Order: sequence, then structure tokens, then C-alpha cells
Amino acid sequence: MTDASLPTPHHLPCTIGDLPVARIAEIAAFAGQRVQIRGWLHNRRSKGKLHFLQLRDGSGIIQAVLFKGDFDEATFARADHLQQESSIVVAGTVRADERAPSGFELQADGLLVVAEAHADYPISPKEHGVAFLMDHRHLWLRSRRQAAILRVRARIVKSIRDFFDSHDYVLVDTPIFTPNACEGTSTLFETDYHDQKAYLSQSGQLYSEATAMALGRVYTFGPTFRAEKSKTRRHLTEFWMVEPEAAFLDLDGVIDLAEDLVCTIAQDVLRDRGPELDLIDSIRSEAEEHRQLKLRREALAAIRKPFIRLDYADAVDQLHELGSDIPFGDDLGGDDETILTQQYDRPIFVRRYPAQVKAFYMKRDPADPVRSLSVDMLAPEGYGEVIGGGQREDDHDTLRAAIEHHKLPMAAFDWYLDLRKYGTVPHGGFGLGLERTVAWVCGLPHVRETIAFPRLMDRLRP
Ligand code: 4AD
Ligand code: MG
Repeated sequence: MTDASLPTPHHLPCTIGDLPVARIAEIAAFAGQRVQIRGWLHNRRSKGKLHFLQLRDGSGIIQAVLFKGDFDEATFARADHLQQESSIVVAGTVRADERAPSGFELQADGLLVVAEAHADYPISPKEHGVAFLMDHRHLWLRSRRQAAILRVRARIVKSIRDFFDSHDYVLVDTPIFTPNACEGTSTLFETDYHDQKAYLSQSGQLYSEATAMALGRVYTFGPTFRAEKSKTRRHLTEFWMVEPEAAFLDLDGVIDLAEDLVCTIAQDVLRDRGPELDLIDSIRSEAEEHRQLKLRREALAAIRKPFIRLDYADAVDQLHELGSDIPFGDDLGGDDETILTQQYDRPIFVRRYPAQVKAFYMKRDPADPVRSLSVDMLAPEGYGEVIGGGQREDDHDTLRAAIEHHKLPMAAFDWYLDLRKYGTVPHGGFGLGLERTVAWVCGLPHVRETIAFPRLMDRLRP
């Protein structure tokens, strides 16, 4: 039965004859050949008997040149009125052209309009305000800079996974619905779980500790949630974190692992995403110019071992010399991290924070129980904390006392305490925030551009 009130279904036309379909990223392989390219109209201009269409296919942008003599009158006239973002297929011959950014141009001889875009595409080449762009994030992603950032992000994810896979760390996915807090109770998203209270996971760490006792070396990589009441350039409410955890890994081992991972990410991105980094550098807003960031290739090339290693106490001394009034014993604030990281061109590990500013699971330093065997990695150029981790409390009674001291519900942690009852070992790990890493690698002023659809305190849409 058909419903007469529904429009008649139809297929969109999307091929021109049986010409090979070429992707712009691989266009060099088609030099001299006739092909068709399918995508969207990014921009266009005309000059006399020529139309120049900037065609975007997701993998790149190429200019198609349409000469009046090669087209029937109606098609040529239509090309002069196509709206930005119309979906089109262009057929033509691939010609090498040194002036073109891709090194090639398409000498067009066929044009198929798949779907004409409405005339009011909201994102024009002029500079828009951030709120407007965020409201139109679903379309903003089509701009070259945003697409380049997503490509860098995807490369970083691959780099992280390859790194751990090749170091014999087993990927184990941890739950998102959890009955207890990991990182303190103040930033929990609560949800109803069949008449029980559940919380969205702030970190997979506690579960990773359990799987590390089963598999030796593990990592978890997924979304984590924090009901942060912070409107800063570093905070999302939903962000991705990779968390390695290993049995018999002490604080120094955790730091070495983090250092190797970060060097690998920098090298991989530099090797495989140079053009994207250049593009991101080339389109900077005034606010970004103001930060006087390094060119990203230069910044990444500087990420070499050994990173700076400072104990918390030395970091605070340095901060005092630099004019900060941070009280000894307090956690470093965002501003302190910024000042400190501006002193060095490579990341800094700050070790042995006071136990009182860190989570309940941190192992206390046996040499000085006021301190914890914790570490944060602060990225250069004012990017601040990208990694947090350390060695975990491995003694049953000490851990039990810490849970009590933090006023956490003991019943929710019985399984976690079991890990200290049945063959406890020294162990440790860390969490690296993906969005903060992408922001730093790309030189972005704010984490909101590092994920396709950011979730911020005041943003749940689109
Ligand atoms: O320092 P955090 O809170 O550490 C943990 O969650 C540990 N359980 C990790 C572990 O040892 N397995 O968070 C780790 C990292 C931070 O350094 C930061 O990069 C990122 O997660 N992060 C955030 N990123 C974006 N928005 C937020 N609101 C973030 N909170 C933390
Ligand atoms: Mg932290």
C-alpha cells in the first residue's frame, strides 16, 4: 500500500556514464585521464567564457575549469548559478597544474547536478562569531580548517592505538554506566538505571586496574563524562580519554610510558598530516594570532625526549619566582600551568603532588606520606594538563582508609578492594585527554573545535 500524501520516492542521479570515479586525494594517479569527481561546490567564479568551480569531495579540493565551447548552453548557464554546497558530479580530464594547491586541475566536459543547495547556506567566507559557528557545527565541519582538524584527530587516535597495540597492551572497553565515582563526586552526571542511581563514567581507571590484574597490560579508550561547571577553553562535559594501566608499573615507569606515547603521536602527525597542519596554521583568527603560537610543524618537531621532570615542590618554587602566589600544598591552577609551560619548549612532568589534592586511589609516597606518587604532564605553549596519572594505592587497609577519608560509599568499592586482597601488586597508569591533545597538536585556542560535536556546559546542540 502506498500513501498518496508522501512524495514519490526517487533516486538522486550521481554518475556520469561509466567514467572512473576519482577521489581528489588520489588525483595524481589519474593524470591525463578522463574521470568523474563527485562532491560539493565549495566556491565558484567566472571570467568571460570560463567558469571556475572549486569542487570539494571530502578528501580535498580541486578546481574544475568549464569552457563554454565544451558545454551545451543550458548546462553552462546553470553552472553560473549554482549555489555553494550544491552536490555535483563533474567529468573531465585531469591536468597537471603547478599553481593548483593539489597540483592538478580538472578540464571539465560534463556537469551533473545531484541536488541544488538552498540559496541561504549560512556559512559564507566572511568571519562569523563563534556562537554562530557552533550553532551551525553540522555545516561548519565542511570548512577546510575544521575538516583538517578532524583528520589530525583521527590520526592521533590511530597513533595511540598502534602505540599500545604494539607494546602488548590489550584494549579492554570499560563500562559507561557506573555505580560509583572515580575522580571525586562533584562532577558526576547522574542517571536513573532501572530504579537505581547510576553515573556516567568519569574514567575507566578502576575497571582497568581489575583487567590489568587479569591481562598484565591493558588500555581503555572511550568517552568519559564530567559535569564540569567550568567554562574554560580546556573543559568539555564529554571527552575521550585513553587510559593505559599495567601491573608492576611504578611512577617512573608511568612517566616513561607517557613520554614515549607523546613523542610517537608528535612524530606520526608530523609525518602524515603535515599539509593539514600547514592549512590550520594558514587560516588563523585574530584571537589565535594573538597567542603567537609556533607553526605546528616546528612545535611538534620540538617534542623530543627527555621531557622536563619536576617535583611538585620545585614547580611551586619556580612559580613563586615567576610571580605566582600559589600557596604551597594547593593544586596548580590553569594560570600556574600556563606560566610554567611557557618556560620550556617541551612538555613537563610534575610529580608527587600533595596527596590531599589528588584522588583517593593515589599511592602515598613511602618516603613522605604527605605526597602522592602522582604525575601530571603539562603541554608547552600554555596548553597545560594533558595527562594525569600515577601509581595506585596497592595496600588494602590504606586504600580502605582513603575511601573512608574521602567519604565515598564503601559498598560501591568492595570489588575494587578485592583487587588488593587477591594478589595485590604495585601498578599504575595514566589518562591522556584526546581533545586537549588535539588542541595542542593543532594549536587551537579552545577544545570545542577538536571534536565533531562538542558537549560543553552550555551546549548540547546540534
Ligand atoms: O587527570 P584526570 O582527571 O585523570 C583521570 O581521570 C585518571 N583516572 C586517569 C588515569 O590515571 N587512568 O583526567 C585525565 C586527563 C586530563 O589530564 C585531561 O587531559 C583530560 O583527561 N580531561 C579533560 N579533557 C577535557 N575536558 C575535561 N573536562 C577534562 N577532564 C579531564
Ligand atoms: Mg588531572
